[in-house]
Amino acid sequence: MTAQIIDGKAFAAKVRAQVAQHVAQMKQAHGITPGLAVVLVGEDPASQVYVRSKGKQTVEVGMNSFEHKLDARTSEADLLALIAQLNADPAVHGILVQLPLSGHLNEDLVINAIATEKDVDGFHISNVGLLATGQKAMVPCTPLGCLMMLRDHHGSLSGLNAVVIGRSNIVGKPMAQLLLRDSCTVTVAHSRTKDIADVVRGADIVVAAVGRAEMVPGDWIKPGATVIDVGINRIERDGKAVLVGDCDFASCAAVAGAITPVPGGVGPMTIACLLANTLTACARANGLDEPQGLTA
Ligand code: GUN
Repeated sequence: MTAQIIDGKAFAAKVRAQVAQHVAQMKQAHGITPGLAVVLVGEDPASQVYVRSKGKQTVEVGMNSFEHKLDARTSEADLLALIAQLNADPAVHGILVQLPLSGHLNEDLVINAIATEKDVDGFHISNVGLLATGQKAMVPCTPLGCLMMLRDHHGSLSGLNAVVIGRSNIVGKPMAQLLLRDSCTVTVAHSRTKDIADVVRGADIVVAAVGRAEMVPGDWIKPGATVIDVGINRIERDGKAVLVGDCDFASCAAVAGAITPVPGGVGPMTIACLLANTLTACARANGLDEPQGLTA
């Protein structure tokens, strides 16, 4: 079998087009423009690239982008004061503090200072609890993107065996919650899992989110399974720097029914879902109907 390639780049473009359409309608009918504030502390090059890309795409869908670039030595008190100001600003519907934060800043404290309804990353402890209990939450962007691709490919996910490899707060745990909410039978595998190959072989859906280059070989994959590869790992191959996922693409694609490539799979969906979450947050803040198909 040769897997169908799930084109995340094209899917993300479709999501952004849908968001842009809703934004235009919101502006015209209600005079409201959704706004996303992104806070970057320090000058980490990878974070700068992400933040630039977020700002550009935010403007492209017609939203307001507010960028706050703070010095690496910014104190926790100053960062919390900025968050309080953004929480109170009616033009700001979504707030994202770029992670990781440098060591002198308490990440949990900072994230939990964001107003729950503006937490478009879905990392606030209240949103984690709302998601886990099946209530209306802001859902983390990367797992939301994975869910959208899975729903698009399968229609209903009900009754499917899903194995999530990785137990991070950003991807693994919320992904498991979302799959459970869509009535999958969910297993979370991780570095201590015994006989992980056998566990993964039972899966109709595999979501790999561990951050270890090509750790999932094709012979772990059940024939016809759907493989969602969240990993983005920079390795050297034949003297050249290349990006690879957590799955060995060639051998997995030979067995799977469908697979996301790296790059061009899950990656582009994350920012598209951030924009979708900002739109949702804006709709909720203004008592408007939530956009269909862009939330969990
Ligand atoms: N750093 C890398 N990915 C993310 C993300 O999705 N959200 C935030 N806030 N920081 C990140």
